[in-house]
Amino acid sequence: MVKQLNQEELQKVVNSVPMLSPSASQLIQITSQADHDLMDVIDLVRTDASLTARVLKIVNSAAFGLINTITSIDRAISYLGERIIVGIAVGDSAGKLFEKELSGYESAGGDLWKHDLRTAIAAREVVTQSGVDISSELAFTAGLLHDIGKSIISDYLHGSVTDAVEMITTDEDLDYLDAEEKLVGFDHTRAGYELARAWKLPEELAEVILHHHEPINAKEEYRALVYAVHLGDNIAMMGGFGTGSDSMRYKLDPEYTHYINIGPKTLASIMLNVDIEFEKLESSFTGSGDEN
Ligand SMILES: [Fe+2]
Ligand SMILES: [Fe+2]
Repeated sequence: MVKQLNQEELQKVVNSVPMLSPSASQLIQITSQADHDLMDVIDLVRTDASLTARVLKIVNSAAFGLINTITSIDRAISYLGERIIVGIAVGDSAGKLFEKELSGYESAGGDLWKHDLRTAIAAREVVTQSGVDISSELAFTAGLLHDIGKSIISDYLHGSVTDAVEMITTDEDLDYLDAEEKLVGFDHTRAGYELARAWKLPEELAEVILHHHEPINAKEEYRALVYAVHLGDNIAMMGGFGTGSDSMRYKLDPEYTHYINIGPKTLASIMLNVDIEFEKLESSFTGSGDEN
């Protein structure tokens, strides 16, 4: 039987989630600012010995196939790019949330991370290829975090997949968010938004988390970013990388064309690029690329 949560109970659950590490939190803050400097990222990583060690290990791992070993942290960061540094820091800091089995969605452990990483890569590609005036690094981070609310409400949705699917199939006006709200009292966007606030994430990231399924409701100033992640999310799901029972059970908002200038041909090529980039990044973030 699914347990309904009220606002106070949701808050309690959110408050029980460990905070991001100071490095991950500051990296997100810095890289979200449009006018930040790469040196700020380098200086921050330098102050964290274990993150520095991880970054150097990853850049020299088999996944990147370098001929000569990189031993300086500034070269490693320049080579990998900020988004990968943010990914490493977030993965190290909140890996348990991303890796846990989403039993409420009948989705295996690790699926959320794979879906989020694909969404992040796709959102960045959407931004880069459409030429929209948004930081591609910010789009990546936003993609990485967009579904974090699922790891919070999954436990409460346990055993409800049949009910959720039935709700949606009997009423075509409903999507999976409606089913979550009816079953648990909150959907994963609201749960994620509360966590974003507890983690003091920048406002634009909190907006993405809250509105990634209905970007039109996002604040005007962040709407293009939210649409980029909305598209990235759909690209990840269309590629067969969802999180179980809810995959493809949301509506794609065709209004994206007003914010993101991208045609079907480009979207198809992005899907291909996502596959290639994902293969490269996945092993490095999860540490399975550390063998050499
Ligand atoms: Fe979502
Ligand atoms: Fe998603």
